[in-house]
Amino acid sequence: MNDFPLSNSMLISPRELSLSAWLGHIPFASWLVEQLQPQSIVELGTHRGSSFLALCQAVQEQGLTSRVFAVDTWEGDEHAGYYGDEIYNELREYQQRNYAGISEMLRMRFNEALPYFAEGSIDLLHVDGLHTYDAVREDFETWLPKLSDRAVVIFHDTCVRERGFGVWQYWSEISQQYPAFEFTHTHGLGVLLVGKQRVPALADLAARAATGAFSPINRLFDTLGSNIKRAEEVERVNAGLVDARNEVNRLGTLGHELQQRCLQLEQEVRDGREQVRQAEQQLQQVRERAEQSAVTAEDLSRIVAEERARTVEDVQAALGPRLDSQARSLDRLLQPWWRR
Ligand SMILES: C[S@@+](CC[C@H](N)C(=O)[O-])C[C@H]1O[C@@H](n2cnc3c(N)ncnc32)[C@H](O)[C@@H]1O
Repeated sequence: MNDFPLSNSMLISPRELSLSAWLGHIPFASWLVEQLQPQSIVELGTHRGSSFLALCQAVQEQGLTSRVFAVDTWEGDEHAGYYGDEIYNELREYQQRNYAGISEMLRMRFNEALPYFAEGSIDLLHVDGLHTYDAVREDFETWLPKLSDRAVVIFHDTCVRERGFGVWQYWSEISQQYPAFEFTHTHGLGVLLVGKQRVPALADLAARAATGAFSPINRLFDTLGSNIKRAEEVERVNAGLVDARNEVNRLGTLGHELQQRCLQLEQEVRDGREQVRQAEQQLQQVRERAEQSAVTAEDLSRIVAEERARTVEDVQAALGPRLDSQARSLDRLLQPWWRR
């Protein structure tokens, strides 16, 4: 460890932290960029951009003239899962805002991007596409001619042995053919020194790996990487807390609105009860009046009957004698005619 070139670059603090299985390798990626000073960096497999943005940030913070290319369909695969356009759009927007001058996003299949790179032009290649043995092998072999004479290739997930991952198997073969070293934390990261011109610090790490003296370096970057993973966790938990707080506020407001509505409904029930009470009172009055009216009607019909009888008597008394004398006169007038 004594002669290991420690530097500030490995203390990089990522500006953008998204959930990714790559976060723990960011300190090494930044240190690698510093050591290698690559002109051209190509990443095969970017997804949300944790490794890509870390490489861009390292280039920018170190004031290098490197260009960083991310190649991905941004559709996903059987290991990363399939996803929609929003991931590409979000990353593209961030990349354009922060790293437009130093990076490019190539939305296409890896083999479709090959014609855009000259032979022997890439100094740092990151292989992180589909993780089957065949896919990793194809990605490495098809891009090999594009690598420069000082190129380094990094392979993610060299330690994963599940779900058909085969990087470990390809790594066990290819790492025999070039100087190499491997980090075992964060799902494993294999570092292959493909170019013949090797940066001394990297060649030294490969030599340590060959002699079994690499573990302190592995631990160092594991510890630095763990801080970044924890920072992401804290950010995620904080975001969860903000969401939870917003939810509590929303529920509080809803509770208040419901309470107001309850009070309003209680008032409406009280008003309704009062209306029922008044209606019952009115009904009672009507009932009482109806009972009283029934008595008056009987009386009235009796009075009417009596009045009618009395009127008939009066009329008979007034008209009777006159009618009798009229009848007698009429009788006298008609007598002669009746005798004939
Ligand atoms: C494991 S993810 C990349 C993770 C990323 N490096 C990070 O830091 O989180 C793999 C990505 O490779 C992409 N991919 C897989 N095979 C591909 C191919 N042949 N061409 C283009 N993209 C591919 C998938 O769309 C997926 O987004």
